[in-house]
Amino acid sequence: MADPMPGMRNHYDGRLSIERLQLVLDALAPHDQRLSPEQTSPFDQFHTRGLAATLDLVEMSGITAGQKVLDIGAGLGGTARLVAARCRCRVVGIDLSERFVEAARYLNGRTAKTQGVTFQVGDALGMPFRNGTFDAALLQHVAMNIEDRGGLYDEVARVLMPVGRLAIHDVVLRDGEPIYPLPWAPSGEMSFLLTAKATWDAIERAGFHLLEWRDESAPSMRWLEQLGLAKRDPSFGLAAALGPELVGYTANLARNLSDGRLGVVSAVFQLGAGARG
Ligand SMILES: C[S@@+](CC[C@H](N)C(=O)[O-])C[C@H]1O[C@@H](n2cnc3c(N)ncnc32)[C@H](O)[C@@H]1O
Repeated sequence: MADPMPGMRNHYDGRLSIERLQLVLDALAPHDQRLSPEQTSPFDQFHTRGLAATLDLVEMSGITAGQKVLDIGAGLGGTARLVAARCRCRVVGIDLSERFVEAARYLNGRTAKTQGVTFQVGDALGMPFRNGTFDAALLQHVAMNIEDRGGLYDEVARVLMPVGRLAIHDVVLRDGEPIYPLPWAPSGEMSFLLTAKATWDAIERAGFHLLEWRDESAPSMRWLEQLGLAKRDPSFGLAAALGPELVGYTANLARNLSDGRLGVVSAVFQLGAGARG
């Protein structure tokens, strides 16, 4: 199979406009006035259920003040900034896309309480960190772009401290072939979805045990309906940064969820042996 990396970078980089993002933020507040991570959330939380999903994940993760947290596939950095502000911890965001890292740094400059938040370019399959660096890792709507799931979860386990935690928020396969294009992939060639069970199994094989699991398919569907995406409403906030095509891509996600082809899960795992719930 062809290397999906160049196509993946292009898929994300090609649609992002920092200039458009700047215009939207300028309409919210003057340049010298810092926004909160909650205010920027309509434009920088690139996943289903936006801010609400991240708040739930933060609550589930048990991250505490002073911890060192890694946000893998950090995108525009909304999750990293929110976690740092809410938990008073340090967060390093890593992303394959240089342009997303550039945008995440730009947003850091426009947002309050970002002293402990940094972003760097890097591949989740070979991260530039020593063994045992982080207390917790977040993977929000990223794993579906990564074919080598075993390699991904082994690498996450490597950079976590003993009893470190992994919080995931993923789209998963349910029943039938997904309809593309989708927000993370224009076609099936760049999409490496697993079922919920296969995701759980792959994470366990890397040495984690489950602490909590939530099926978020129904609330995700409701969120998309409320946004009006099923009707292709162009007022969708993320489209400001990522372009109008995102509206149609996200409408397809809504359709896949309502057809039962795809689902959404959130879960928290911890390194070390534990009983399967
Ligand atoms: C759908 S976005 C989610 C961004 C962010 N986690 C969020 O929820 O707002 C997926 C992100 O994963 C990044 N990504 C995909 N494959 C990656 C890899 N192998 N290593 C690091 N980042 C990756 C993409 O560049 C993109 O920014």
